[in-house]
Amino acid sequence: KQEESLRPPRLADYIGQKELKEVLTIAIQAAKNRGEPLDHLLLYGPPGLGKTTMSLILAAEMEVSCKITTAPALERPRDIVGLLMSMKQGDILFIDEIHRLSRMAEELLYPAMEDFRVDITIGKGQSAKTRSFSLLPFTLVGATTRIGSLTSPLRDRFGIIHRLRFYEPEELSQIVLRTAEILKTPITDEGAAEIARRARGTPRIANRLLKRVRDYSQVKASGEITQQIATDALTLFNVDPLGLDWTDRLILKSMIENFNGGPVGLETIASATGEDSQTIEEVYEPYLMQIGLMQRTHRGRTVTPAAWKHLGYD
Ligand code: ADE
Repeated sequence: KQEESLRPPRLADYIGQKELKEVLTIAIQAAKNRGEPLDHLLLYGPPGLGKTTMSLILAAEMEVSCKITTAPALERPRDIVGLLMSMKQGDILFIDEIHRLSRMAEELLYPAMEDFRVDITIGKGQSAKTRSFSLLPFTLVGATTRIGSLTSPLRDRFGIIHRLRFYEPEELSQIVLRTAEILKTPITDEGAAEIARRARGTPRIANRLLKRVRDYSQVKASGEITQQIATDALTLFNVDPLGLDWTDRLILKSMIENFNGGPVGLETIASATGEDSQTIEEVYEPYLMQIGLMQRTHRGRTVTPAAWKHLGYD
């Protein structure tokens, strides 16, 4: 699949997240020297910043395989037991949205993470018996957009906990240039920079915008992505100069017009905009706060003067 080949295959190809790469480079080398699997790793932060990609890279660097799943797919105990028992020595198990694990799945994970053991209850009531099965040592990589929703016993079982941060425009530019090369799309440095500026600090968005701009340039222009082409295309697609899309602007506008800029509660913003409150909190808010258009106070969210100005209010 195209998406797969866009992912950087090795740590050396991964642009940005310098600190995380340093931490992991040391962990990888130490684990390899000892002939042990990596410590369990918890990655958190907004979506699209490369949590899954990093897990696949770790597997490549450790020369093991990576099984990818998401917490809602592990609802029944046998789902997770089956997965754990199929892991080979040192393999990586990637669980996305790990804050959504069921209680039972979570309790199966504790001994698995700590002692590489699963405890299974067979039968019911009086005749119920617990049997333990040993697992081969493995590495759990958990990913979440909401570290605060993790229970502390689960969080405490990770040896490395790291937050992914938004990417700098220069880092996103490099990512856009790299992806354009893989897609065999001609692009100027300025064209890449324009896409990067509007990608909300997020590689997944940068690559998505690049594909839309590529379509535009092939249909409406010569095919090469220049700054002008990128600007024209992104304007047409309603991505503004700060990278805000229709929903970002709706959230800010609604806070300004209905609540005079706040403070206003999350649920109130959600009903006023018809957007899901969790999506606002995990997808929209983090970037609006990062670029200083929104603030969180103990009384609710407020928009900043910069947001009024950006949307053309006094
Ligand atoms: N493509 C998506 N994210 C990337 C990253 N962090 N480095 C290189 N290429 C990428």
